[in-house]
Amino acid sequence: MVAAMQRSSAPVSDATRATARDPYLEGCYAPVQEESPVEGYGLTARVGAVPRDLSGTFVRNGSNPRFEPRGRYHWFDGDGMLHAIEFSGGAARYRNRYVRTEGFMAEEAAGEALWTGLLVRPDMKRPGGPYKNSGNTDLLWHGGQLLALWWMSGAAYSIELPSLQTRGVAEFGAALPRGLAAHAKTDPRTGELLFIDYGMRPPFLRVGAISPERALLGHAAVELPGPRLQHDLAFTENYVLVFDLSMMADPAQLRRGRQRIKMFRDVPTRIGLVPRTALREGQREAPVRWFDAAPFYMYHAINAYEDGDDVVLVGCRIADPLVGDPDNPARDFTVPAIANLRLEPYLHRWRLRGATGDVVEERLDDVMGEFPRMNDRWLGRRSRYCYMPRVAPRETLLFDGVIKYDLARGTSRALAYPEGWFGGELTFAPRDHGAPETQDEDDGYLVTIAVEAATGASEVLVLDARALEIVARVPVPARVPVGYHAEWVPAAR
Ligand SMILES: [Fe+2]
Repeated sequence: MVAAMQRSSAPVSDATRATARDPYLEGCYAPVQEESPVEGYGLTARVGAVPRDLSGTFVRNGSNPRFEPRGRYHWFDGDGMLHAIEFSGGAARYRNRYVRTEGFMAEEAAGEALWTGLLVRPDMKRPGGPYKNSGNTDLLWHGGQLLALWWMSGAAYSIELPSLQTRGVAEFGAALPRGLAAHAKTDPRTGELLFIDYGMRPPFLRVGAISPERALLGHAAVELPGPRLQHDLAFTENYVLVFDLSMMADPAQLRRGRQRIKMFRDVPTRIGLVPRTALREGQREAPVRWFDAAPFYMYHAINAYEDGDDVVLVGCRIADPLVGDPDNPARDFTVPAIANLRLEPYLHRWRLRGATGDVVEERLDDVMGEFPRMNDRWLGRRSRYCYMPRVAPRETLLFDGVIKYDLARGTSRALAYPEGWFGGELTFAPRDHGAPETQDEDDGYLVTIAVEAATGASEVLVLDARALEIVARVPVPARVPVGYHAEWVPAAR
């Protein structure tokens, strides 16, 4: 589906020509080349203290090109680099390491970039595919291993902890011709991994399940009218939620061999419920019940759950997802963009009414937020809290604070980061005491990496999730570029 992300089908860029510098190659986004020693660096808090009842490892993924890009750069093109902070007994230790995918290793051997990116017409004959699986997007703990996942669908890579060495392709990969996309999710109740994969050729979308023992349980095609830009899924006890979003490659242009994405404001977004029993039974065609919602695009869902006959979904809705769309309403504030992707997301709730088939939806806030996380132990069932990075009014994507939403009460509170500092996705880390199953949903910490844009100084922030207060600011002895998704791996695992 990448091809559809190209800005236009305008004349092909010369892949070898020096490129104009993209803002996502500069400043706090600029890649770093250094990898830490295997033993990492011990860290010391400069404000507060690392909690003694915080035991586990925070790992964050992101785009970090190893070599000078061939042609125009898109932030999604870079190689995956992992940054990890291991917490134990009040101490913290930092490591970073590239995700050594097959594509990364081929370029390493060549000593230069071999693949072009999203903004260059792809070489369809390139061995290994027209786009490099960089494993740069997401991280997921499943079946006793940490997986690095790529947004476009590809082999998942198994990552060793605490070293961050890439073990290789996760072994269920061979059974999945298109791999799996970022934002696969582990059901905390069953241990199953639920995933999607998608592409430009039929089946345009598949949904699957992998057992806690890493065996493929089911893999079913979802009937769609054409290729679609996918990014996330959600699940409940009995369903996987899939999406037929209103921003897509323009079918009329596709018929002429051109790939241009367009927001179709007259085409409802369909939210589909796939029964998880169909996956366990090995059905090849997913029996989907579709619900029509007002047109939108969404990168990230937060959670879904069943409420009687209804299914409730909470996520970050974007109504106007493209830069330069003449139908976008004027705004008197700055909205960030990544190339032509416009990021104006708002917390939103959809109720899919089982009895009537209609959708009741409501926007829950007027403050832009993205990269939401929650206590993952509540994934798939009714959850109360979510922790949403607040989108700064900048040209590029930065988060200047965090908003904690209480979805049960309909309230929120915000914590602004220190002036000039920007944080990332926050993972929820349960406190050590007691059995996690019996703990309150927000009894724990939030961990993120923040950067001071002007200096590149980087710190680990540890927040008390309940109070939404910073309890430790821990400098990292290296710059950590702004990145994507993170995972918390409790020490007990
Ligand atoms: Fe994502």
